[in-house]
Amino acid sequence: MKAFIKTQYGGPEILHLEEIELAPLKENEIRVKVMANSANPADWHILRGAPFFARFTTGLFKPKEKILGADFAGIVEKVGSKTKHSKVGDRVYGESLTGGAFAEYIQIDEKCVAFMPNEISFIEMACVPIAGLTALQAIDTHGKLKAGESVLINGASGGVGHFAVQIAKARGAKVTAVCSTKNKSFVETLGADDVIAYDQIDIHQQKGNYDLIIDANGNLNFDDYKRMGKRGVMIGFTSMGHMVGVLFKKMLGSFPLTQFTAEVNKTDLEILAHLIEQKHIKVQIEKTYSYKQIPDAIAYIESMRTKGKVAMSWEK
Ligand SMILES: NC(=O)c1ccc[n+]([C@@H]2O[C@H](COP(=O)([O-])OP(=O)(O)OC[C@H]3O[C@@H](n4cnc5c(N)ncnc54)[C@H](OP(=O)(O)O)[C@@H]3O)[C@@H](O)[C@H]2O)c1
Repeated sequence: MKAFIKTQYGGPEILHLEEIELAPLKENEIRVKVMANSANPADWHILRGAPFFARFTTGLFKPKEKILGADFAGIVEKVGSKTKHSKVGDRVYGESLTGGAFAEYIQIDEKCVAFMPNEISFIEMACVPIAGLTALQAIDTHGKLKAGESVLINGASGGVGHFAVQIAKARGAKVTAVCSTKNKSFVETLGADDVIAYDQIDIHQQKGNYDLIIDANGNLNFDDYKRMGKRGVMIGFTSMGHMVGVLFKKMLGSFPLTQFTAEVNKTDLEILAHLIEQKHIKVQIEKTYSYKQIPDAIAYIESMRTKGKVAMSWEK
């Protein structure tokens, strides 16, 4: 099969499309013919081995996993002997935390996939896993957002943020979105009630009394959370130093702030599929690349300027 291979740490230019052998299918795994992928900041973090401490998991001197990629959607081609939920021909989408998705086939534990809604494309569903799970878990699991509450979402126009705005609206919250002026109308079409353009208003001076602050960009300081909100969820980070600084101040005080790493699980993938089927979420795709241009897609996502999501298709 064709796969994007990395044998060292570096930028998108080190990725090479190669022909490799498929490994034998394990009993708990399904083999999925990949139809589409999406790009996430996690891809370039893993590709570059940055931040450095992550290499204790991904491989200290060179990457343990040769194939890059987490998000995919495709068609089940073969099922392992101990799988329970899948059959050949199922349309599924999912996430591989350890990589392996930027390839013609992925072999993955069936717990990490869910069925796709009818009439939604592979390209759309491939955009959902990491960003959608992160947004859902920020709002439901960690933020515990309730109907009638107010939430400020910083970084509202990116992959995670654009899902977070729509999920918060689906939960009955009042949403204030923070993005640049050029993306103001975009977040309004997602349902944001108010918009703060961070290039016109200094978010670090902004006052508020929001029930929940979600920082998908990662540039909010601890004092920003306290000044504007009653509780907070930190998703993104702009630097390790910044994140450690925020978490250190949190330890010294009593303000309820949660930092988390999103987990892949079938239940949450099913909730997202349902929200999409019920049209509470519309996946917004800024660009779709061919699979041959996966390194270009990674370079684009690294710019942190994405409006919605970046997809890659194995059909063109
Ligand atoms: N904790 C977790 O498990 C987890 C999971 C997924 C992602 N993340 C992290 O969350 C962050 C966001 O991920 P993503 O997939 O949403 O990335 P993304 O799609 O690349 O986000 C790009 C967005 O960031 C916005 N942005 C850039 N500078 C900003 C600023 N100063 N203030 C507010 N928004 C700004 C941009 O909006 P404008 O163009 O309008 O400036 C753009 O729409 C990344 O740091 C990622 O590593 C964490």
